[in-house]
Amino acid sequence: MIAIKDKQFDLFISHEQIEDRVAALAEKLNADYKGKTPILVGILNGAFVFAADLVRHLNFDHEIHFGKFSSYQGMGSTGKVKELIGLTVDIKDRDVIIVEDIVDTGITMADLVPKFKAKGAKSVEIACLLMKPGKLSVPLDVKYCAMEIPNEFIVGYGLDYDDLGRNYKDIYVVK
Ligand code: IMP
Ligand code: MG
Repeated sequence: MIAIKDKQFDLFISHEQIEDRVAALAEKLNADYKGKTPILVGILNGAFVFAADLVRHLNFDHEIHFGKFSSYQGMGSTGKVKELIGLTVDIKDRDVIIVEDIVDTGITMADLVPKFKAKGAKSVEIACLLMKPGKLSVPLDVKYCAMEIPNEFIVGYGLDYDDLGRNYKDIYVVK
């Protein structure tokens, strides 16, 4: 068990399990992107740990860049996504793989995919570490996902609670 601020968390997914699933996901990418040179776009802050582990399993040429986007609920039910750090790389005619820590409502990814396509990307796919299918509130095609989890709040392996807890090797679930 760990404590962060006012909350306690139990061990949920061990680092060994995470490593196995990340390696298996990388194998799919290795098969699908053989001979291509895609641009990976890691979504800050959460995806920095996953991205670092994932790329070290990839055996095709690729670039990795990062952007920072934050999703928030507007006045209505439609979420909006703010660009905090934009892309500095030209993705026109390039295959793009968005590297995300977790797809929750899907609002962030559903906003980014068409924006990247509008910049002229040849293809845009999502590679996420985790997904909460029960929380998905928009149609979203996630081609690469390492693990699906129930609707629980988790921390560790890059994921935070109030910007804390990103450093844990394992993933913990709130009590
Ligand atoms: P979405 O737009 O609702 O899919 O939001 C996804 C973002 O919410 C992720 O990139 C995370 O930053 C954050 N998030 C969603 N679920 C969790 C969680 O359980 N723990 C920590 N962050 C989360
Ligand atoms: Mg995130």
